[in-house]
Order: sequence, then C-alpha cells, then structure tokens
Amino acid sequence: MKVLLTGGTGYIGSHTAIELIKLGYEVEIMDNLFNSKITVLDKIEEITGVKPKFYKVDLLDKEGMDKMFGEGGYDLVIHFAGLKAVGESVEKPLKYYENNVGGTINLLECMKKHGVNKIVFSSSATVYGDQGVAELTEEMQTGVGITNPYGETKHVIEEILKDVAEAEPDFEATILRYFNPVGAHPSGLIGEDPNDIPNNLMPIIMKVSTGEIEKLKVYGDDYDTPDGTGIRDYIHVVDLAKGHVAAIEKMKPGVSIYNLGTGKGTSVLEMVAAFEKASGKKLPYEIVGRRAGDLAEIFANPSKAEKELDWKTELTIEDAMNDTINYLEHLAKK
Ligand code: NAD
Ligand code: UFG
Repeated sequence: MKVLLTGGTGYIGSHTAIELIKLGYEVEIMDNLFNSKITVLDKIEEITGVKPKFYKVDLLDKEGMDKMFGEGGYDLVIHFAGLKAVGESVEKPLKYYENNVGGTINLLECMKKHGVNKIVFSSSATVYGDQGVAELTEEMQTGVGITNPYGETKHVIEEILKDVAEAEPDFEATILRYFNPVGAHPSGLIGEDPNDIPNNLMPIIMKVSTGEIEKLKVYGDDYDTPDGTGIRDYIHVVDLAKGHVAAIEKMKPGVSIYNLGTGKGTSVLEMVAAFEKASGKKLPYEIVGRRAGDLAEIFANPSKAEKELDWKTELTIEDAMNDTINYLEHLAKK
C-alpha cells in the first residue's frame, strides 16, 4: 500500500513514517518545511534503511499538489500538515483558516481528482471544548466552547470530512483526536524540534533544561486537581504513531473517529518531577497565573480505539522523559 504523509517531516508525521516503513508500507512525504527540517529524511533512513520520496510542496499550491498526486498513485493519505501554535492562531486567525482549512480543501479536491478516497486526519482533543467533565469520549458533542482559531480549524475540518462522506459513499475518513503527544524516538535521532516558538509544555521543558529558556512558567496551581496544576493525557509519540498504523489497517467507508490517548492524566508538577528524575537535574520553574482558555483536567477514554483498532498505549511518561533526554543529548552533539 502506498501512503502519502502530508506534513510528514514534522514531529508526529516522521514517527509515523518510521512505523509504517517498518511494516512494509511504501511511504512518500510532502511538506513545505515551514516547521520541520529536510534532514529528518536522513534520520528516517538511518532508522529504517529507507529514505522516503519527498515533495517540497505547500498544501495551498494547487498545481504542485496536482503534479505530486499525478506521479504518486497513492492508496491513502495521512494528513498531518497544518499550523498548530494556539497563541499565534488567536493573533492571525485568517492564516490558520487559510492554511489548515483551505489547505485541507485543496488536498481533498486533489484526492478526488486522482481517485484517492481514503484519508486519516490529525485532529485534536481541543474539538471537545469544555465538556464539564475530564474524561472525554468520541460521541460527545464537539465544537462548543473551543477557545481559539486553531481548535476551530480542527472542528471545521472534521465537519468537512463528514459532509464529504455524506456526498460520496465510497469515501473513507478516520479522524484521530490526539491528546498531548510527548517523547521522541528511542534511537534519539528524531523528536520534537520546532522552528516556531513553542507554547506546549514539553518543548518548553526541553528548552528550560538546555538553558534556552530561564524557567518554566507553571500556569496556575489553584485548579481543582490534587496538586492544583493542570492535568492532561500525555501520550508517547511512538504509541501515537502506531495508532495511525492501526487506523489504516481498519479503514472503512464513512467517517470513523477515535481518541488516541492513554486514559490517564498527569499534572504539570508531576511532569516536572518525571523530567527531573529522568535527567537527574532540577528544572527551574515558577507558578504564575492561569493561561486563558486552559481547562483544569482532561484525559481520553481510549476504549473505542482499543476495541475497534486493537490498539492501546504501551509506553509510559518515564519512557517519554528518557527518550526526550536521549534526543536532547543527540541535538547537543550536532
Ligand atoms: P509539526 O509542526 O511538527 O508538523 C506539521 C508539519 O506540517 C510541519 O512539518 C509543517 O512544516 C507542515 N505544514 C504546515 N502547513 C503546511 C502547508 N500549508 N503545506 C505543507 N506542509 C505544511 O506538528 P505535529 O506536532 O507533528 O502535528 C501534526 C498534526 O497533528 C497537526 O495537524 C497538528 O495540528 C496535529 N496535532 C498535534 C498535536 C500536538 O500537540 N503536537 C496535538 C493534536 C493535534
Ligand atoms: N503549561 C504550563 N506552562 C507552559 C505550558 C503549558 O504550565 O509553559 C501547562 C498548561 O497550562 C496545561 C499543560 O501544561 O495544563 C499542557 O499544556 P500544553 O500547552 O502543552 O497542552 P494543551 O493541553 O493546553 O494543548 C495541547 C495542544 C493543543 C491541543 C490540545 C489537545 O497545544 O493544540 O493539547 O490535544 F489541541
């Protein structure tokens, strides 16, 4: 099976490419390299022995996309490409709608033209908004109370996929709602190395540990949680990557939706402690006020993916921290 990964040089795409290649899938990658580096392809080759064919194309470049699909002969697309900086999306909403929603429409048009009817889409737990409960299940109503344009783009794209599936009976879409991806490949060769300014917890912890950022700001210790800090469901990126493989093996007509998470919540201070334990170093932090739009606690109910995709997470926060530190050591040697 020949699979195109849009955004495949990015953090989650590159880890997914490795898992697919290991299982014998033929993988091609397209990316505009806005938030990733071409050298990722060499790392994939170092790990798997295969260097995927690469297209430097923008989702918004209709001609370039058409040419790539004309050459490709793909069976399926995993659509990772998108902008994901929540804060920036509040300042530049049009850029986010154009890139993420407009880009996806271009992709879907191209797929239709070239007879590709299977897509897996990188969605996010953000589509649940504030449900008033911490444990999230796929059948909950989505799209209410999303606090930023980035999250809105994920919701809108989910709705577009549902509409396309209504219109085209042979269309197969699997929507994967990721919780909080963390960690790196155990080889230490690839991990999260964003070009943009990080605003997620792990990339900030990484930059504090290297001294690039002075200290971690912990956004609030007065939530209704055991230690007062926010709780999220942190999933190792290799487990997440394997979730994509499980998903493409079980594609079916219509739209299928799965949470990809561990089912377990971890607080910010527990993440700090886990990083300190793995690195043997203190991580400087200070408690500051709450960040606008943050929820106290969310975690996945991953039982649908376990039942239908025969997938569940295997790695722990400790694994994620050890692999992150291994990756940081690799980056420091460069
Ligand atoms: P990433 O930024 O590392 O990867 C995304 C890739 O898409 C980048 O390499 C970027 O250059 C590329 N890209 C962006 N716009 C493009 C365009 N117009 N044309 C071509 N390429 C383009 O991000 P990631 O963490 O690997 O996330 C992958 C997907 O998963 C994204 O859609 C993201 O919104 C989603 N997601 C991520 C998280 C997370 O916390 N990492 C959580 C939920 C959902
Ligand atoms: N946090 C801090 N300090 C920081 C950064 C984060 O204390 O500098 C805290 C947050 O308050 C939150 C937790 O760490 O309690 C996780 O924050 P992230 O920004 O890493 O993750 P979020 O859960 O807020 O959001 C992420 C992605 C969204 C995605 C969502 C659900 O940024 O794109 O997960 O998947 F939609």
